[in-house]
Amino acid sequence: MKPNITHDGTLPPDWALARRKGALQRAWDLVGAPLRMVLLPDTQSEKLHLTSLRAERYAAVLPQLKGRVLDVGAGDNALIRLYQQMQRRSGKDDDAARKSVGVDVVDWGGDTLKIASSDSLPFEAGSFDTICFIACINHIPERDGALKEAYRVLKPGGSVVATMIGRLIGDIGHAIWWYSEDKHRDVAEGEVMGIDSTEMLRLFNQAGFRRVSVKRFVYGMNYLFVATRE
Ligand SMILES: C[S@@+](CC[C@H](N)C(=O)[O-])C[C@H]1O[C@@H](n2cnc3c(N)ncnc32)[C@H](O)[C@@H]1O
Repeated sequence: MKPNITHDGTLPPDWALARRKGALQRAWDLVGAPLRMVLLPDTQSEKLHLTSLRAERYAAVLPQLKGRVLDVGAGDNALIRLYQQMQRRSGKDDDAARKSVGVDVVDWGGDTLKIASSDSLPFEAGSFDTICFIACINHIPERDGALKEAYRVLKPGGSVVATMIGRLIGDIGHAIWWYSEDKHRDVAEGEVMGIDSTEMLRLFNQAGFRRVSVKRFVYGMNYLFVATRE
């Protein structure tokens, strides 16, 4: 699969990933909300100095990552590349970051490992400290099995970090987002365009996760879940 407008191999710029934004940037992001949230692909938003949706997601997720990270549904592996860059810059160029890996059923480039399915991963039990599902659980038809598999390959005390939009926003968004990655591949039966947080909590619970925290971001329209394996 060739890189495309969504998975183009680029990383969001540093200013877009800053956790605390200045008043001017916040005002610009609000004025430009229809552009960055609906009309423009992430890289084009960033060219206009608007915080892209991918940058919003990674800025929420990066502080949650520790140790060896597995990113499921990794796209072009941007999150793992950002994590490794973050560790290098903070002088923590450790083995765990280097051994972090992204997997996907589509090869979008960026050194992701291509897998056949997310419910059977080529890793031993207890291999990872953090496992991510960023904007992708809705796209994984085998999502029940994928979270159970994540529980298996996660170390005790490790966490699953996931972001997800609700069903209504997802349905509306995917009808409009002409650039979204699912327009560049076959859509599988069982994919949905968003998952409500009550259903996400049920999925986590069923996979064995008892402690799950939920936070909202992007004006409350996106959700960050952190589920810890006891
Ligand atoms: C919206 S993209 C998100 C990509 C990436 N996590 C990010 O933050 O940019 C959804 C991803 O899910 C992947 N995907 C679809 N079905 C999958 C499956 N069964 N298992 C793993 N990944 C899958 C797609 O190939 C795509 O890369």
